[in-house]
Amino acid sequence: MGIQSSSHKLHIIYFSGSYGTKYASECLFSSFKNKGADIKISEIFQADTIETDTDNVLIIMYPVHAGDAPHSVYKWISSLKRIQNKKAVIISVSGGGEISPNTACRFRVKGKLIKKGYTITNEYMLCMPSNVFISTEENLSLALFKVLPAKCELIASEIINDKERIKKPLFFDIILTYLFLIEKTGVKALGRYHKVNKDCTGCKLCSKKCPTGNIIMKNDKPHFKWNCSLCTRCFYICPVNSISVRILKFFKLKNGLDIYSLASKADETDIPEISSQKISFIWNGVLKYINDIENI
Ligand SMILES: Cc1cc2nc3c(=O)[nH]c(=O)nc-3n(C[C@H](O)[C@H](O)[C@H](O)COP(=O)(O)O)c2cc1C
Repeated sequence: MGIQSSSHKLHIIYFSGSYGTKYASECLFSSFKNKGADIKISEIFQADTIETDTDNVLIIMYPVHAGDAPHSVYKWISSLKRIQNKKAVIISVSGGGEISPNTACRFRVKGKLIKKGYTITNEYMLCMPSNVFISTEENLSLALFKVLPAKCELIASEIINDKERIKKPLFFDIILTYLFLIEKTGVKALGRYHKVNKDCTGCKLCSKKCPTGNIIMKNDKPHFKWNCSLCTRCFYICPVNSISVRILKFFKLKNGLDIYSLASKADETDIPEISSQKISFIWNGVLKYINDIENI
């Protein structure tokens, strides 16, 4: 029996840094709405007020951070009550696609949700432009927005029609996921000491928008606490580009990232076919994702 006919209530809960996952979550929400599904959407940022009691399908969406989910996602899952008879769908959003070590980026989330009593029925990987180290080439970025509605359409219809999709991570990637757990503490330490240059106007935007509530204002300047996910939001939303990471300088993209402008540009642009010979091999996973709608 499909989700609609069994009156399932769906709830997308997402964590997003530079708004790629937010954009993808909103696109998926629209696909469900177009199919007449009963669905809500909430950002983990509003964790205290998210009401999940009446939902029976949880759709959790998050960006891949070091082959895993950001620590805020685990914090939210640990706050959930133990339940029975609820389904969960896990959707990771990456800059690199379903390549190693990303194949295990849902593995620990799955384990934690199962411990809370959820049954995992579907797993997907979506791609959005990279927000760290190297910008996704523009044609690829625009193509990611072009293919997203079709991917969301497919995900929504699989979930509505109870068509399960479970992915098998590579064993080596599972090991890496555990080795990379150091990242969870590393990002908190790095984030505690973000640099704010003299251009800062004290506008408070970073503090208002930080998805982990990690930024407070002191003497009209942002002050970072110990709960950073290194999600990059404050870097890219700062109107005067005044915030950066103190070490790992190449972590922040030189040209910034504005997901919603890229999305509008994609709307207005015809994207030529992208050939694998013209792009660097590091984008192979993204290219496969773009060229095959079933690749999710
Ligand atoms: C701390 C950090 C670690 C990341 N690690 C990975 C990774 O291991 N694999 C990958 O494909 N992308 C990685 N990315 C890129 C993001 O997953 C990707 O850009 C995603 O679309 C960001 O979503 P958001 O805009 O909702 O934050 C990382 C990003 C950050 C900030």
